[in-house]
Order: sequence, then C-alpha cells, then structure tokens
Amino acid sequence: IVWMIQIQKPEQLVYDDEQQGLNKQIVIYFSHVVAENTPKGLAAQKFAQLVEKKTNGRVKVEVFPNGSLYSDGEEIDALLRGDVQMIAPSLSKVTQLIPEWQVLDLPFIFKDYSDVERVFTGEAGKQLLAMLDREGMKGLALWSNGFKQMMSNRRLLIEPNDFSGLRFRVMPSEVISKQFQVLGANPIVVSFDRVYESLEKHEFDGQENTISNIYSKGFYQFQPYLTISNHGYLGYAVIVNGRFWGSLPKDIQEKITEAMQETTRWNLQQSKQQNQEELERMKQNQQMHIYELTETEREKWKQSFRSLYKEFQREFGDDLLRKIQH
Ligand code: LMR
Repeated sequence: IVWMIQIQKPEQLVYDDEQQGLNKQIVIYFSHVVAENTPKGLAAQKFAQLVEKKTNGRVKVEVFPNGSLYSDGEEIDALLRGDVQMIAPSLSKVTQLIPEWQVLDLPFIFKDYSDVERVFTGEAGKQLLAMLDREGMKGLALWSNGFKQMMSNRRLLIEPNDFSGLRFRVMPSEVISKQFQVLGANPIVVSFDRVYESLEKHEFDGQENTISNIYSKGFYQFQPYLTISNHGYLGYAVIVNGRFWGSLPKDIQEKITEAMQETTRWNLQQSKQQNQEELERMKQNQQMHIYELTETEREKWKQSFRSLYKEFQREFGDDLLRKIQH
C-alpha cells in the first residue's frame, strides 16, 4: 500500500480571525527528525503550546516529528525554500553551511552540563546564532539533547585502539569524521532516518549518540556494547526562515522569543533528566554491556584528539575556542 499525504502549504491554512476579520492566523510548520518523547520532541511541543497561549491563538505551531515531512538531509533546504518555517537540526548538521560550528563537535569541548548551559545561553551562543543570518536564516536558540556515548556490536570500546578498523555511522560534520579517523576507524555519513535500518543490516560496527536517541529509536537492540564516554555533545539549533521571521509583526516576534526562552530553560533541565532516567532503564536490560570510562581512560581519549584542536585552530583561529573553553 502506498500512502499519499498531501501537504498543504501554510499560506493555504491562513484564515481570518473570527472576531476581527483582520488578524490572520500565522501557522508555523516545525519539522524535526526524532521521536516525540525525546528532549527535542518534547521541547517542540512545549514551545507550540506556549506560543499558542502567549499569542491567544494568533500563532499556531504545527510540529511534525520523526522526519515525517523531511529527513535531516532535506530539512535545511526545505526551510530555505520556505516549505517549512522552523527546524531544529543538530549542530553538527549546520557545519555544512557554517564550518566554524565544527568547534561544537570537537570531542571533550564541554566538560559538563553547566559548561553547555553557559555556552548555549551566553555570548558564544549568541555569536554562533548570529552566523545563521548570512545564510538567510534566523537562529532563535540552542537546545540540548545530551552527551554522546559510543556503541558497538563488536566489543566494548575502552582504549583508543579498540576502534581500529571498525565502521562508524556519523552525522555530516568533518570534525566528527576526523574524530573516528584518528582512532583508526572508518566513518560513514548516514542520515538519522536510515540509522535503524543500517544497524539492523550490519552496515556499521558502531555509532555515537545520546542515550535518548539510542533508547527511543531502539538502536541498542543491535549494539549491545555501550561506553559512557560523554565525549561529544548533541545540541540543536532552533532556526526559522529569515524572510518569514522578518515578515512577522514586532509583537508576535516578541511573544515567540519569550516562548522560546522559556522552552530553552525547561529543555536544559528536562534533557539532562531524561537521558539519566533512560540510562537507568537500559541498565536493567540484561542483553546490554554498559561500561563507564574512568578519568584515566578519558585522558587517553583526549590525548588522541589533540590534533583535532590544533587543526581547528589553524583553520578558524581561536576566538570561538577560547570563548567556549573559558
Ligand atoms: C543524529 O543524526 O544522530 C541526530 O542528529 C538526530 C537528532 O536530531 O537528534
């Protein structure tokens, strides 16, 4: 059976406000690729509710989860074309447009959650979001998922040379590919919607992701070895189409910004909690082998990645690096 879904353009959904006959309802299509019960999925829903409440229904945010409208490889183009008004791709996926954002993918760039919070909501975050302007987009906020962990179907990954010769699924970010190359592994870029199927078919020996994505998409079924490495961070850029944003009345922009700030504060706490709870649940799974890296082991990984920092600095300077590392 082939299911045909007719997507109506938001303009077609605009209708006159019943009371005044003047005010149009503004509809925002918000497309994302993860499950609903995840930090991004829940934040998107919360944002939609807050916007509706704060604008007394003048703005409606329609959330499309699970890549049901566009896969992660397509969503940035869809936003630029104006087919959707809002997306929240991972920071790694933005590096294709804005290579400086690779700084956020450097392994061990964030020490802990408070470091993430300082960067995402502070000066560095503002500077990063402002770079989206040059691409015709408006960055509203940086959202959190959590620290990435390493998984494999072969063995526990503890020492840097445990990675040798293994094939890893990666997001499209050069720094992430290099991270695996310096470990002697073979990185292969695959979009999120294909990860489950490719793991099932053993196209890869491993992948890195947050507990929330591993749990909600069932990746652990094919990858029983999980190393809690907290080596990288998965965050999101919440982006709207620049022209669409510019066309909104000032008071609406203000309400949306308010709703976004409130959602972002909530998301920072909620994402941390959700990843922790789901890790506890996975620990109950007898099929899984979960190992937490010791400080000494983490140090060895860090040593292996030093060349990536030097390379980044050579290419992009150290302004962003210093701001982030404090
Ligand atoms: C991934 O591709 O693994 C993630 O970026 C998916 C997501 O949006 O969390």
